[in-house]
Amino acid sequence: MSLLTNLFLPSIARKVRKKRLTYLSREKLKSLVHCIRQVNKEKVDGDVLEMGIALGGSGIVLASLMGERHFYGYDVFGQIPKPGADDGEDAHMRFSRIESGKSKGLKGDLYYGYHNDLLNEVRQNFESFGYPEDGSRINLIEGLFQDTLPSDGAAVALAHIDCDWFDPVKLCLERIGPRISPGGFIILDDFNDYEGCRKATDAYLENAPFDIFIHEPHAVLRRR
Ligand SMILES: C[S@@+](CC[C@H](N)C(=O)[O-])C[C@H]1O[C@@H](n2cnc3c(N)ncnc32)[C@H](O)[C@@H]1O
Repeated sequence: MSLLTNLFLPSIARKVRKKRLTYLSREKLKSLVHCIRQVNKEKVDGDVLEMGIALGGSGIVLASLMGERHFYGYDVFGQIPKPGADDGEDAHMRFSRIESGKSKGLKGDLYYGYHNDLLNEVRQNFESFGYPEDGSRINLIEGLFQDTLPSDGAAVALAHIDCDWFDPVKLCLERIGPRISPGGFIILDDFNDYEGCRKATDAYLENAPFDIFIHEPHAVLRRR
């Protein structure tokens, strides 16, 4: 039985799922909730970062549980960049479908990558849950990670990397890993879903000061 089977999902997480604002399963949300509570309990220093916001669901859950920390959410807020040579066939097929304009959103909704003004929609989603983007506690940063994600910023307690393919996962790990405080977490949403994410994570772990803490339903790395 999973360690998290009996964890009760907070009502905000249930509401976010009901409103179809997240692609995360209940089990993945439970694990995120567990990790953020853990860094709060142990007073691990630093901000909360999410790379891969889409409609904002998992970011809203993290922001709701972070206490006095600051939240930084990064996304292109448009069409996801294409996978590369280190990604598998499934990633390339998924991307072809997105590019063809035929991808469907959650439960038949319009796929978020086709929305006209996704950033403003996500701002409204955060606001509707009581977490307006104020440029201080809540920050939404638009653009490609390679252009927006600083490697020399403030300490990070928890980073949720949810961006599917090899290249962005590798870049996020390399830029954010050194900023994670001892005891802090990196959560890799796609570790069991896309081989590019797993490949980038496994390669990173060969030399980085992290242990793999949980590997299902996603991977959770903990800084030594
Ligand atoms: C699976 S979605 C995130 C899901 C979200 N966390 C949730 O709760 O449903 C992946 C997101 O990563 C973003 N993304 C992927 N690669 C990126 C890159 N290189 N730069 C910026 N955003 C990227 C996509 O635009 C997309 O919104």
